[in-house]
Amino acid sequence: MDDAVLILDFGSQYTQLIARRLREAGVYCEIFGWASDKAVDFAQKSATKGIILSGGPESVTQKDAPHIPAAIFDLDKPILGICYGMQALTQHFGGAVEKGTTREFGHANIVIDHGNELFSQLPEENFSVWMSHGDHVTTPAEGFSIAAKSHNGLVAAIADDVRKIYGLQFHPEVTHSAFGQDILGRFVLDICQCAATWTPAHIIETAIENTRLQVGNKRVILGLSGGVDSSVLAALLDKAVGGNLTCIFVDTGLLRLNEGDLVMEMFAEHMGINVIRVNAEEKFLSALKGVDDPEDKRKIIGRCFIEIFEEEAGKIENAAFLAQGTIYPDVIESAGAGTGGGAHVIKSHHNVGGLPAEMGLDLVEPLRLLFKDEVRKIGTELGLPHDMVYRHPFPGPGLGVRILGEVKKDYADLLRRADDIFISELRAHDLYDKTSQAFAVFLPVKSVGVMGDGRAYDYVIALRAVETIDFMTAKWAHLPYDFLDHVSRRIVGEIRGTSRVVYDISGKPPATIEWE
Ligand code: XMP
Repeated sequence: MDDAVLILDFGSQYTQLIARRLREAGVYCEIFGWASDKAVDFAQKSATKGIILSGGPESVTQKDAPHIPAAIFDLDKPILGICYGMQALTQHFGGAVEKGTTREFGHANIVIDHGNELFSQLPEENFSVWMSHGDHVTTPAEGFSIAAKSHNGLVAAIADDVRKIYGLQFHPEVTHSAFGQDILGRFVLDICQCAATWTPAHIIETAIENTRLQVGNKRVILGLSGGVDSSVLAALLDKAVGGNLTCIFVDTGLLRLNEGDLVMEMFAEHMGINVIRVNAEEKFLSALKGVDDPEDKRKIIGRCFIEIFEEEAGKIENAAFLAQGTIYPDVIESAGAGTGGGAHVIKSHHNVGGLPAEMGLDLVEPLRLLFKDEVRKIGTELGLPHDMVYRHPFPGPGLGVRILGEVKKDYADLLRRADDIFISELRAHDLYDKTSQAFAVFLPVKSVGVMGDGRAYDYVIALRAVETIDFMTAKWAHLPYDFLDHVSRRIVGEIRGTSRVVYDISGKPPATIEWE
């Protein structure tokens, strides 16, 4: 069993970052809402060696503010409170927290005292950290020393080496904080004495072991889409259950250029995995005929996918398990914005992969506890090519939401080629990895152009490229003009039926990333 850290969430926007930083340090951790019963349960059943209390939007000075449950202290493990977590610790132990007139947001300079276990190894005394708080600790509780002050004179850290309880007013998990990773590493590796076992090779080994335990000799089926999660899952399951894995790949006719062939080449030919390819373009296109409302299109595509998948799965004898590429951000027990914990945050996107429970299959979800960056790391470790593991996301409904209005085969064929030019040029110019998501959109409007001596009256292609961390907000990518010029010339020059290319300069909000 891996050593672990329990992260108690008080609703901070940075809680998942704390977990990712710990995992980067090689330490396994899980997040639970502060009021969730499962938190202490997890700590008791796993090899939990320390606890981190996250920040949060509330004020401990208010009545009924979220608090640290007594059972957490009963675990008798080292504790690190961050921001709200430090204030809640101070209040619990009888110190004073006040609503200050000085609030600190963004960069702040602090001076630390090296005379405590948490900071003793840091190479500098003065450095810049990331703050985001209104309340502050005015008097630390008994037994705690002031371990750092900000240049504004506010308490920036507290320490009690005897009980091994520490508090940071700043956010070490945010990369803007100098030595943030060192401080978190010091806490989990040296103070909690967690072994740094959480490496890609070990994650794979554990996932294989658990999957074998769960599925035994039974058959597993997987909807393979060619996206990162399902590809990594296929490679992992191949190692875990080998011949007992059957993948179903549905070519909806709404995929990128040559996607179907590439998926078959990679998984069936190269890796020898059992993949059933279903060419369902006709079914999707006829179901979409005459439909132009985006939500109707999504529903139709989702329904067709499920029907086809169920039909194919029904032909597979002895299928007992359905593998799904659920990842950790989809299942985290989060406190949300201080709502009291226990709430399950579920992916809000209607994914085409959302298959019905009535299929009578048990679920196997080997990526369930992994962050996307970990899924990518194990994909690389499993030998998948870099281009596949670091692919931009592609929406379940595919080109169905990138062809505005009614979907037609001609439009899809034209869009596939334009998109392929854009993406291959991004790769060739070393810009692909600098954007988070990029694609072409087909606009079913005609615009006048002049080509050679003739007048053209053809369709418009829009290019979209964004930079984002979480896809909830996004900036349009400032791609170089020369690059855009080159892509635009190639599209109109090589694809008959297009007369104009436009670049989308809308952020999210107000626009969404996809056009529909
Ligand atoms: P929006 O357009 O909502 O997109 O700003 C945010 C992210 O979600 C993807 N997206 C979808 N993914 N099914 C999916 O699986 C969908 O219906 C869907 N709609 C949008 C989008 O590509 C972007 O990465």
